[in-house]
Amino acid sequence: MSTPAGNDYDRVAYPSMAHPQTFVDNLSVKGFLRGLNVAHPGSCRVLELGCGDGFNLAAMAALHPGSSYTGIDYAGEAITRGRAMMEDLGLKQVRLEQADIRKLDALSPSLGQFDYIMAHGVYSWVPEEVREALLATLGRLLAPHGIGFVSYLALPGAHLREMVRTIIRFHTRDTDNMEDKVEQARSVLKMISDGSMMPNHYTQWITDELKNIDTHMGSSLYHDELSSISAPLLFTDFLKHASQHGLEYLSEAECLTPVSRALSDTAREQLKPLESNRILLEQYLDFIEGRRFRQTLLCRPGLCRALDYTRLDELWIHCRCKRLNPDKLLTDEGTLDFEGLKKAELRAGTPATKAAMLVLAEHREEALPFPELLKAARARLLADKCEPAPDFDMELRMYFTRACVPGLVQFTWGPLSSAKEIPERPLAHPLARWGIAKGAPTGFSYGGSFVEVNGGLGKHLLSLLDGTRDHATLAAEMRRYLAQLHQEAKSNGETPTSPAPDDPALEQQLQRSLKGLAQLRLLRRS
Ligand SMILES: C[S@@+](CC[C@H](N)C(=O)[O-])C[C@H]1O[C@@H](n2cnc3c(N)ncnc32)[C@H](O)[C@@H]1O
Repeated sequence: MSTPAGNDYDRVAYPSMAHPQTFVDNLSVKGFLRGLNVAHPGSCRVLELGCGDGFNLAAMAALHPGSSYTGIDYAGEAITRGRAMMEDLGLKQVRLEQADIRKLDALSPSLGQFDYIMAHGVYSWVPEEVREALLATLGRLLAPHGIGFVSYLALPGAHLREMVRTIIRFHTRDTDNMEDKVEQARSVLKMISDGSMMPNHYTQWITDELKNIDTHMGSSLYHDELSSISAPLLFTDFLKHASQHGLEYLSEAECLTPVSRALSDTAREQLKPLESNRILLEQYLDFIEGRRFRQTLLCRPGLCRALDYTRLDELWIHCRCKRLNPDKLLTDEGTLDFEGLKKAELRAGTPATKAAMLVLAEHREEALPFPELLKAARARLLADKCEPAPDFDMELRMYFTRACVPGLVQFTWGPLSSAKEIPERPLAHPLARWGIAKGAPTGFSYGGSFVEVNGGLGKHLLSLLDGTRDHATLAAEMRRYLAQLHQEAKSNGETPTSPAPDDPALEQQLQRSLKGLAQLRLLRRS
């Protein structure tokens, strides 16, 4: 295959990121519950289109080394970087190819079919013929029970994003330099946000956009919001396009069922006639919520069924939430409230859901087999002298499939691979240790949440967690490192800012740090 011309992603590297919503664990569970005969994450074939340096595939391969992974991207620099990363990490099951999605035909015969194909952050940012080739590739290479993941900008919400894009692209039109463009983009939005003597909903909206954009890394702002191409579309138009390539809607990557966070009773009533048409319901929810981004799962026509609640018995459930009203009892009036990641909230209002959520909150660091949750919730109710209702099991099955939203409730095929307790000889996630050893950006995601380790001490500790050192050795090595930092500060005539090497609280601090890393899912079972 001829080498594609260099592109903007070679000039300005896109940040290395893992996206747990694209992981085969998530895709397989979504397909399984809707009747597909899915390939198990531990033995499947995965293709990622527009994979960048393959960091996402590396994170998946670290979880499921028995599967095989292929990544395609036309940014040569990213592929070279990614290949070196796979080599360093010993991930021989990840193959990265520099190729243009439009010209995959030449590569196709040797590619074979795939159980999972994902394209994250590509569809709406590439020319029309690439969008066409992307879905055609899915249509051609997806296995009969395979699942495709495509994310894209959705209308109507993306119109609002376009407004900001128009402003920042105009304002930065005369500069090519990434840092300058990003700085100017942020500053023009700040001027609008701060500049009006009569703030109105336009300036308020720009202020909110600025807050949002300020959380983006410069290079992703450059490639995403400042991109020369932006092609948002309606959810239903995306599905029309997918159907031209023999692909049908399965569900969203985040939710199994159409979910709206905030619907009035009147709106709920008005949307009732749409309940039998999941696709139209999704479309109208986009209108109501002003949705701007979708992560849609696709499969072969005729396979997607109504949710099969009995299949939950083959899965495990995990809910990393904390109670918001811990003094309330199961038998008290009103709801028991729980908070997951990113302030996602879950309310339990019935005896069955309250009991089940209490069980899950007690097991927040681990996954439970779903039938065990049903049993434990029933026992919990009986202990409080409440008789479970006849539809107890079904109520919980429906409640948890509705709550199956990132940061709240997650179904898995088995126990979580990250450690719940701190192991005797802690082992950090291989990508975390690799990132630190290589001075790569230390933001990554392992078990679901995005993690950034910025402090020097945290980074040094992570680099020591290779599964060979026990806690006493770790403490001794951290003391040696602190002594070195103090020595360096002294020779530079500076006052040391790190704790003293003989600080008696160091062991306790070490335990706290290890617990923090375990909670961030950065420690693996060795
Ligand atoms: C916004 S980045 C997304 C990277 C990664 N999927 C992620 O979400 O972190 C888009 C990627 O698509 C790649 N890309 C764009 N057009 C392509 C094409 N025609 N063929 C192959 N890759 C392409 C770019 O090189 C870039 O790495």
